[in-house]
Amino acid sequence: MHKNGLQVAIDGPASAGKSTVAKLVATKFNYIYCDTGAMYRAITYKVLQNKVDLDDEAAITKIVQNSVISFKPTENGQKVFIDGEDITEAIRSEKVTNSVSAVSAIGSVRKQLSDQQQALAAKGGIVMDGRDIGSTVLPNAEVKIFLIASVDERAERRYKENIAKGMDTSLEVLKQEIRDRDYKDSHRALSPLVKAKDAIEVDTTSMTINEVVEKISTIIEKYLTSN
Ligand code: DC
Repeated sequence: MHKNGLQVAIDGPASAGKSTVAKLVATKFNYIYCDTGAMYRAITYKVLQNKVDLDDEAAITKIVQNSVISFKPTENGQKVFIDGEDITEAIRSEKVTNSVSAVSAIGSVRKQLSDQQQALAAKGGIVMDGRDIGSTVLPNAEVKIFLIASVDERAERRYKENIAKGMDTSLEVLKQEIRDRDYKDSHRALSPLVKAKDAIEVDTTSMTINEVVEKISTIIEKYLTSN
């Protein structure tokens, strides 16, 4: 085990509930929570702000090398910053969501961000969620979870979130966006979304958030008591 506890990797497709569950598991075990999707979104936000083309790898490489992404826990949840600017809300925009797959397919972006993720996780005591955590970033993580849920269920969850935020969206459009992002995330050349060989798959389609948190907590506790 690492100095501060286990490395817990939670991977899976878009909207499978990873971040909600990962946050709650981290709080329960008093571990750090790292949302790696937010890091890819942060770089994408800056690329869009600077009006850089999504296929301009040289310019995007410069951006990722010259940016500082940080997380700060607050009473209203964890905030995300790039170069000191609070971008917690901005990185959830449609524009960022629909451009992030292109940015996250670039080798220099993946290298830079996974180096930062590995440094953050070096001492353990961390729950990290993403697409390639168990397979590539933390291949020696003690606990690896692969969360899945049907496209219909994931689109409905996003739909409800959007309604709650006062955003007007179509369920059909959301389903198509989720299918597109699944395809791009699973078919890119570098670190595509794959289930690590030693990951435990949890299908959350008909489970509540609490049930998923309980299930993962049991897996962690079992590891802790047997090691
Ligand atoms: O989990 P999310 O929807 O916030 O992730 C945003 C995008 O970032 C997703 O489309 C794929 C990419 N991503 C990645 O390539 N590797 C990760 N470890 C996390 C996210």
